[in-house]
Amino acid sequence: MMTPMIPPILDFATGKLGGAELVEKSTTLADLQGLFADPRAEAALSPDTPLYRVAMLPGNGGEGDLNMGVTHLEAGMIGNEFFMTRGHIHARAEQAEYYFGLCGRGLLLLQDMAGVCRLEQVFPGSVHHIPGHVAHRLVNTGETQLSALAVWPAIAGHDYRLMAERGFGLRVVAGKEGEPCVVSSEVSVSIT
Ligand code: PA5
Ligand code: NI
Repeated sequence: MMTPMIPPILDFATGKLGGAELVEKSTTLADLQGLFADPRAEAALSPDTPLYRVAMLPGNGGEGDLNMGVTHLEAGMIGNEFFMTRGHIHARAEQAEYYFGLCGRGLLLLQDMAGVCRLEQVFPGSVHHIPGHVAHRLVNTGETQLSALAVWPAIAGHDYRLMAERGFGLRVVAGKEGEPCVVSSEVSVSIT
């Protein structure tokens, strides 16, 4: 009998991806300059501070193909604002995506084209459907690394410009006891 091949392996407990050629991309604080609300707190940290890393198993890039990648988002804060990803909408905005929480705890911030925001809790086993035309960003509200698996159409692409211009309508900050609080322009709401 033909020997069955061993496919790439994802350790669901840690988010570690192995057994295949990976494409890795790291993002530091310098890459996200001006994204966090407190410029003084940002300046107090080294620009080389690692914020997140994506390990990706690329597909073949064609129509109908799928990409998958694991985002490892460090725990930490800039001032009182939790570490987060840059956030984006897809270049082909109608293309959807799934996120799956693997380890750590956080929030998925979703914002539609009308600017309406909502949050979903991310935890080991959580499943998140991100419809087309919805911008998305991960926020690590925990004390350990947050890892989440993403699966998206290879043709979707990433558009970073639109959300850089519009901004997300909500920020996630730590309250007095370190609990995550959602801050919009004026209102602050505790979510724990
Ligand atoms: O495809 C996705 O949505 C994810 O893999 C993100 O790209 C990843 O979480 C990093 O976030 P961003 O692309 O906003 O920097
Ligand atoms: Ni995406």
